[in-house]
Amino acid sequence: MHKQHTIELAPGLEIPVMGLGTWPLTGEDASDAVARALGNGYRHVDTAANYGNEQAVGAGIARAGVRREEVWVTSKFNKEDHSRERVAAAYERTCELMGLDYLDLYLVHWPNPEQGTFVEACQGLEDLVQTGSLRAWGVSNFKPAHLQEVFDAGLRPALNQVQVDPEHLQREQLEFHARHQLTTVAYSPLGRAGDFLSHPAITSAAQEYGKTPAQIVLRWHLDSGRVAVPKSASDIRQRENLDVFDFSLTEQQRAAIDALDTGAGPRLDSDSFGH
Ligand SMILES: NC(=O)c1ccc[n+]([C@@H]2O[C@H](COP(=O)([O-])OP(=O)(O)OC[C@H]3O[C@@H](n4cnc5c(N)ncnc54)[C@H](OP(=O)(O)O)[C@@H]3O)[C@@H](O)[C@H]2O)c1
Repeated sequence: MHKQHTIELAPGLEIPVMGLGTWPLTGEDASDAVARALGNGYRHVDTAANYGNEQAVGAGIARAGVRREEVWVTSKFNKEDHSRERVAAAYERTCELMGLDYLDLYLVHWPNPEQGTFVEACQGLEDLVQTGSLRAWGVSNFKPAHLQEVFDAGLRPALNQVQVDPEHLQREQLEFHARHQLTTVAYSPLGRAGDFLSHPAITSAAQEYGKTPAQIVLRWHLDSGRVAVPKSASDIRQRENLDVFDFSLTEQQRAAIDALDTGAGPRLDSDSFGH
């Protein structure tokens, strides 16, 4: 098994920096991909109620036969459950579907500011951690203004999961995280195999280290202090994406990749989109 490289979110709470994304896998494909990934050394799996695959992901974890405490499991819930009371029921449902006694991390999937109840959702999550049934809670797709409302209520998420890739660096968002010492998890970290993978800033580093462009981009995330959750169902690409711990980029190489940023926001604007 690979040595797990982790970031400490709080004392005793270490999240493996490379996780397996599971959207849009469902059913047997999802179970297979998860069992394969755990066999390949992954110890962090990312799912969500909205992916419709929690049960299949749970089955994949069970099939892999890895001890529960060795795997970091994240899921997320939808806006119907954004109330202090309903979060607990959503959590119970997810655990039951996944066949797990607890999750390591449970996230508000989208803030849905027009509904105006994400702070209550965070309060419900904090209750779950306080009572010891959940290890940590966090948010996803929260802009600085949403996070500020959460902070103002005296609540502190463990992390924010947002879309980041070389062309979508979300500088203001990430600077806000840094100012508040909030860990960033990059989703769609490969830009869904974006065209930037063939840019010289990436291919030249790939050549220098004998790595693939995807490995360079994943290393760029890690060297920038982020956790990444690339999705791959393929055995070879799963192993490729985990094989990034024997080199690191120079500051100049990292800056050259940062320079690919287009300044564009994420695909979906969380002030208007959400579920
Ligand atoms: N919080 C949110 O709102 C949110 C939103 C979107 C996604 N996510 C999470 O983030 C995860 C990853 O994001 P994503 O799936 O959108 O994008 P991604 O991980 O950037 O890209 C996945 C795509 O890249 C391919 N790929 C994987 N490894 C590769 C490699 N080494 N070389 C070339 N191609 C490679 C995959 O194909 P193969 O499977 O064929 O390898 C797949 O088509 C999701 O699965 C989900 O868990 C969260």
